[in-house]
Amino acid sequence: MGSFYMDCKMKILISIMLLWFASSALAINTKTLAFREAYSKLFGHHNIHRSANDHHVRLLLDRSSGSGFISSDMYQYGLFSASIKLPSDFTAGVVVAFYTSNGDVFEKTHDELDFEFLGNIKGKEWRVQTNIYGNGSTSRGREERYFMPFDPTKEFHRYSILWTNETIIFYIDQTPIREVRRTEAMGGDYPSKPMSLYATIWDASNWATSGGKYKVNYKYGPFTSEFRDLSLVGCRVDPIQMLPTSSNNCTAANSDLMATGLSVMTPKKRKAMHTFRENFMSYSACYDTLRYPEKLPECEILEAEKRWFKENGHLKFRHHRRQRRSHARFHTAVDRSLGQQWVM
Ligand SMILES: *[C@@H]1O[C@H](CO)[C@@H](O)[C@H](O)[C@H]1NC(C)=O
Ligand SMILES: *[C@@H]1O[C@H](CO)[C@@H](O)[C@H](O)[C@H]1NC(C)=O
Ligand SMILES: *[C@@H]1O[C@H](CO)[C@@H](O)[C@H](O)[C@H]1NC(C)=O
Repeated sequence: MGSFYMDCKMKILISIMLLWFASSALAINTKTLAFREAYSKLFGHHNIHRSANDHHVRLLLDRSSGSGFISSDMYQYGLFSASIKLPSDFTAGVVVAFYTSNGDVFEKTHDELDFEFLGNIKGKEWRVQTNIYGNGSTSRGREERYFMPFDPTKEFHRYSILWTNETIIFYIDQTPIREVRRTEAMGGDYPSKPMSLYATIWDASNWATSGGKYKVNYKYGPFTSEFRDLSLVGCRVDPIQMLPTSSNNCTAANSDLMATGLSVMTPKKRKAMHTFRENFMSYSACYDTLRYPEKLPECEILEAEKRWFKENGHLKFRHHRRQRRSHARFHTAVDRSLGQQWVM
């Protein structure tokens, strides 16, 4: 390995670092909530452990059951955010999900916005997937998968879903990793009905790791995922009437949402997003021309990104992945100093 190679690598790493910092200059104001203020247990009650101050929740998966919680209200647009630490060691077949959905209310026409964390065999990294469904568009998966720029089992990192009537942005810490802007052509595929927030851990042995090749091994259980810095900003709606609750009004909620600054994509943030995607994205439905010969209407095809992907939407080169690993180690250090950027 020559020094020329090292020099190049250092330059790339330094430029990523500068972008990562630049995108984080903005302090974000969100109030964190106690579990009892905004959430309810959903399933696997005995596997939901709350801290004494009620601001820290552990969700466990063991032989008996997974577990999950749900927001007590539904929201029509909002910011859904939490710091999450994932289970370590052998986690093949384990899925931790942080997502919004209204599948319980609108069975055939449900909307959904997902962060799904996919466990792996020992020594292999977790991956994260984002997805979007609108008005029951379940035949049109809009998955993207990414390597993580740090070890998500070592420390908490903040994952946020920002959803307005015009844009959806997924954030990891301060960095936007995906933006889907509403286009006319998306029609009902753009989520627009009230949704609840869900956090769950469950056994997805049949698909999560290498397409189901590796199952959950309960010898390594219980698998523990941790959630804190829970925050919810948005217009609360009555789950029965689907109208704003009387104690709340959307004007105030929307201005709180705008005040977070998270819906604004500055040129710096956009650049940080592209850098992240170039370095960490491993699959995108937008580049999967086998599945979608006619591209999905919201997809913005970037030539720089497209070069890296095969027609099945997966990364082209194996070596690319090795390079990612060193980036991953590097980002862990960068992220540590960004953790405090959120103003609570
Ligand atoms: C989104 O909401 C804002 C503020 O209520 C409104 O001005 C704008 O027209 C809406 N956009 C769409 C596409 O509905
Ligand atoms: C959602 O789907 C339902 C049932 O297919 C349809 O009647 C409705 O018009 C759709 N809504 C939007 C906004 O496209
Ligand atoms: C909604 O909240 C804003 C800000 O708190 C307030 O000025 C306004 O009067 C409220 N509107 C209604 C209809 O309650």
